[in-house]
Amino acid sequence: MRFNLLPGAKSTRLRRGLVVGAALALTSGTVVAVANQAMAASGCQVTYTTNDWPGGFTANVAITNLGDSLSSWSLEFDFPNSSQQITQAWNSTYTQSGQHVTLSNTAWNGSLGTNATTTPGFNGSWSGSNPAPTSFTLNGVACTGSTTDPTSDPTTDPTTDPTGDPNVDHVDNPYASGQGYINPEWKAKAEAESGGSRVSDNPTAVWIDRIAAIEGTDDSSSNGSMGVRDHLDEAVSQGAAYIQFVIYDLPGRDCAALASNGELGPEEIGRYQTEYIDPIAAIMADSAYADLQIINIIEIDSLPNLITNTGDRETATDACDVMLANGNYVAGVQYALNKLHAIGNVYNYVDAAHHGWIGWEDNFSAAAELFASTVQGTTAGFASVDGFITNTANYSALSEPYITVNAETKLSSWIDWNLYNDESTFATAFRSELVSLGFDSGLGMLIDTSRNGWGGSDRPTGASSASDVDTMVNESRIDRRIHKGNWCNQSGAGLGERPTASPASGIDAYVWVKPPGESDGSSELIPNDEGKGFDEMCDPAYEGNPRNQDNLSGALPNAPISGAWFSAQFQELMANAYPAL
Ligand code: BGC
Repeated sequence: MRFNLLPGAKSTRLRRGLVVGAALALTSGTVVAVANQAMAASGCQVTYTTNDWPGGFTANVAITNLGDSLSSWSLEFDFPNSSQQITQAWNSTYTQSGQHVTLSNTAWNGSLGTNATTTPGFNGSWSGSNPAPTSFTLNGVACTGSTTDPTSDPTTDPTTDPTGDPNVDHVDNPYASGQGYINPEWKAKAEAESGGSRVSDNPTAVWIDRIAAIEGTDDSSSNGSMGVRDHLDEAVSQGAAYIQFVIYDLPGRDCAALASNGELGPEEIGRYQTEYIDPIAAIMADSAYADLQIINIIEIDSLPNLITNTGDRETATDACDVMLANGNYVAGVQYALNKLHAIGNVYNYVDAAHHGWIGWEDNFSAAAELFASTVQGTTAGFASVDGFITNTANYSALSEPYITVNAETKLSSWIDWNLYNDESTFATAFRSELVSLGFDSGLGMLIDTSRNGWGGSDRPTGASSASDVDTMVNESRIDRRIHKGNWCNQSGAGLGERPTASPASGIDAYVWVKPPGESDGSSELIPNDEGKGFDEMCDPAYEGNPRNQDNLSGALPNAPISGAWFSAQFQELMANAYPAL
């Protein structure tokens, strides 16, 4: 996200169509303005109507100023129920603190003459019931339908903003707000490794990879025992500006592989909603965390799997066909976006695979269209997404300095007609594609650089001059994988760029979402109670499938289950870091 620091302005931008109506109301009202500052009177009338559906509603508000002309206005009221939550406003900016709401004018509709009416509105969510607020104040004056003399009423000072909590403003790029949260559990594992303290002070994401991870667990066999609240409390005490979570527990998770299958069966969307997303949203909405920018990476691999691993494709799996047919990946992502976007200081970045997955022409537009239709189905529409992330837990290089993608190099088996050969170019192009489909033009991309450094002695230092295109590309590329479809504990990988805010135009940050040192999957079957299977792509002896065009897996041997600490991998990542440590 970029270029819009006004809280709420994003919503008004998306509601351009309604601006016209407000301007007309204002114009018709201003003709009767008869301001008399010496005898300033105040008063207002408000009508509030809603259109409700299960879980959501649209409210239209009409504010008529019965008093003297105003140059700015601020309407305040309380929702009767704690479940009622604004998710998006138009013709106004909003703040909500608990049940208390303030709707304020935008930069263009602050002027409100006597008897003029302005018509802000908003979308919201609710559960139980959705009653209308019972009283309103305009610039501190109760809206009773008649005028009062403000000199006898101490609450009318229009310069006072009794609620405005600047901390819950939704900023443009949450990564630009300061230091990221250092997960102490990851830090301790990194520092237990020889040389690990060189990298242990980098922010990494906290993966909420099962329901039990919300409260935290006693066993730390996989990736940690702290719960969501523990991490948020710790982030507050670190004085962190932002914290990163991964929302990762969809029904039928990881449908094209086995290493990260989850606990919820393909049909368990109800449990996903009530036992997973709802409790996470409730914790993140706690006002104790209002000073933090809380970033959520939404459901790795899920929507891209519906594009590339279903139907007639050679790469299709039965499990992905089931998830396409039952709609639970889409429904789950929409539910997560709705619940999490409703919290002002929470940010959603949806996973957009990587160039070696959706960088082919057929996949590129289809994936972007699926993202657009999914997000348009949320209550707040495009506004529910702050950005997208590419290369999560993957190894694709940020850039390939010695290779140009052109008609000749596309013929190589490494590029194989992909439109892209690196994540920077891909992320930038995919961002443009998304914006062309209706996403906010300030959309921000993230690139996971935790394991895409490809330094060390095998890194080429210049372009090859071989005449055979395969030889030339293979000798020039810094990504040393056997095939771009390889994804598990890749041999030869190194730490990539350290986490950095705003590294390039359109890129909100380079991030370490996959914590370096955590396994991608076990190299043989290891029984566990997390629902994780054994995927042969993590076995170094495996000779592949259509998704890596029947190549060797390139995985390191002796790996533990996904998420568990893998010392040999961490040591190799440090040794091959680029930039070097
Ligand atoms: C695993 C998760 C783990 C994450 C980060 C995923 O592959 O399935 O359990 O938290 O990696 O290491």
